[in-house]
Amino acid sequence: MVDSFGRRISYVRLSVTDRCDLRCRYCMAERMTFMPRRDLLSYEEMLALAHVLIERGVRRIRLTGGEPLVRRDVMWLIDRLGARIGSGLDELTLTTNGTQLAHHARALFDAGVRRINVSLDSLDPERFAYITRRGDLGQVLGGIQTAAEAGLAIKINMMALAGVNEDEFDAMLAWCGTRGFDLTLIETMPLGEVEDHRPERYLALDTVLAHLQQGWTLTASMHRTSGPARYYDVGESGIRLGLITPMSHNFCAGCNRIRIAATGTVYGCLGHDQKVELRDILRDGGPVAVAAALDRLLGGKPERHQFDLSRPASTRHMSVTGG
Ligand code: GTP
Ligand code: 5AD
Ligand code: SF4
Repeated sequence: MVDSFGRRISYVRLSVTDRCDLRCRYCMAERMTFMPRRDLLSYEEMLALAHVLIERGVRRIRLTGGEPLVRRDVMWLIDRLGARIGSGLDELTLTTNGTQLAHHARALFDAGVRRINVSLDSLDPERFAYITRRGDLGQVLGGIQTAAEAGLAIKINMMALAGVNEDEFDAMLAWCGTRGFDLTLIETMPLGEVEDHRPERYLALDTVLAHLQQGWTLTASMHRTSGPARYYDVGESGIRLGLITPMSHNFCAGCNRIRIAATGTVYGCLGHDQKVELRDILRDGGPVAVAAALDRLLGGKPERHQFDLSRPASTRHMSVTGG
């Protein structure tokens, strides 16, 4: 699948639910209206869609949410997607808030998942509870430890939030270093109305990098995932530090992805509402009709996101597609 700017689409972010057990202030409002369950694709439909996508050249699938591990019986889907690793898929990964990892880590590994990204914005219990509105730091740290013991490589995602966690980057880098986890710092993006005031929370990662370079040996890395992060090797610990800079350094020229919401709405870009609705086509149309709808999406996939922190780029919350 190639879009009208010549970008090859080989990666799909598949949101299995827009629900989440947390309410991170940069992601959600306290009161959220979630999609009615009857509107969600069934796991069988998600699997059928994944097969079409793989036939069309998708090599990596990342499951997202909301929180993917809160949808009931999600391992059914993960097991079947995992069966395509090595026969069509190169990688199946997951982005999670970590609250359910203690239960699922082993099964994830057994399904063929080898690395996961876990959101962790603070190592201070009170601050973590403040940011997530209802999270328990101990539960998440326990989940991360179980995941590491199960053999999953772990990358920590930390939002850079001015006035909230900007004094913790060194501590997080050290904590990750002693455990062998990579760390990715992320600039906040304006999607959906949240109660938090985004312009005040925005922190350009150039500033953070300049600060970290004073205390750490950071060397630009050749390492690449298929994602938007730029990486630095951390001399002291051997881990990698990633920077995701949607606001300060645009990376859309290298975009390789589309994203699917749990209802079967497929978005060409995180920062736009351009989409096709696949649910009814999946139910009534069959693989050829699905492929034609995907071609329509690719034909209109926007060139880049254009975020303005003072107003959301879309009414859609981050949790609809899990980033
Ligand atoms: P890997 O590189 O495979 O480890 O994953 P990733 O960093 O792409 O995925 P993850 O789910 O951990 O996302 C980290 C952050 O990157 C989130 O804030 C996502 O919203 C953001 N992100 C991922 N892909 C895109 C993209 O295409 N555009 C924008 N603007 N942000 C993205
Ligand atoms: N801007 C940037 N990243 C966000 N995430 C959630 N909301 C936002 C936002 N507004 C991150 C989460 C998670 C990843 C999928 O997206 O922290 O790690
Ligand atoms: Fe849930 Fe992730 Fe959004 Fe936090 S950032 S509320 S964990 S979906």
